Amino acid sequence: MKICRTIAEIRAAVQEMRKNGSVGLVTTMGALHAGHIALVNAATQAHAGVVATIFVNPSQFGNPSDLETYPRTEEQDLAMLRAAGVGAVFLPAVEEIYRASDETIVETTGLAHVFHGLVRPGHYRGVATVVTKLFNIVGADAAYFGEKDYQQLAVIRRMVYDLHVPIAIHGVPTVREADGVAMSSRNVRLTPEHRAAAPILIAALTAAEALLHAGETVETAAEAIAATIRTQPLAVLKAVDIVDPTTFAPASGPLTAPVGIMVSAEFGDILLIDQKEVSPR
Ligand code: PAF
Repeated sequence: MKICRTIAEIRAAVQEMRKNGSVGLVTTMGALHAGHIALVNAATQAHAGVVATIFVNPSQFGNPSDLETYPRTEEQDLAMLRAAGVGAVFLPAVEEIYRASDETIVETTGLAHVFHGLVRPGHYRGVATVVTKLFNIVGADAAYFGEKDYQQLAVIRRMVYDLHVPIAIHGVPTVREADGVAMSSRNVRLTPEHRAAAPILIAALTAAEALLHAGETVETAAEAIAATIRTQPLAVLKAVDIVDPTTFAPASGPLTAPVGIMVSAEFGDILLIDQKEVSPR
């Protein structure tokens, strides 16, 4: 596995890989877990070569202390990527990605400002900007993103479509811990009490799914999510949104077409998000 810290190095590595066929990309901020490896596995099944990036992107953090305390586990991450069959890893310094002279940002003007974007101002602009840079640097044929970050995936699909970026985007289903908590690099930062409280998110999503399948409306399901989360005193609900998975328009009424349910809650100072797509039976 090639370890590349500069743009020139990763471009040279990708050029070599291309001799064997197509190249898939998995972008990460490190602190890898089984959810990331599921993305790598999806990429290795479809491509001759796989590139992973590890870059803790400052522009997507609203809170400087969140950026400072973000877990950094480089040695362990590299071992996991090597074992998963990644051909090259790009681990740039911040200055390699953001130059002091930079003026350009990438923003999905609608999607960045709704739903989770309202509780994380600037977050999706930071994601769209860094992902655009990483796509342009690596030049892969396809990129793989977790469905857990449902709005992020929609933002990236929209950015690629609008900017005619020549890359295929694939969503990969959420990987969960034994108790149903969606795998996230943030989980390790929860106190044991908050970690024990975190399954309330999947419990709320599952209750909403059951209500929708029983013929209740989207509005009732959204209220049920809020009510379920209120039963857990260590969780503070930040947002619940039920949307059309393609257009992201708010859904309403009984379930007649698939919907995406997105929920976010704070456990102490850690924001966790989760999602579930529900289709009519
Ligand atoms: O999902 C993540 O880990 C990040 O938001 C991403 C896509 C790597 C951009 O920094």
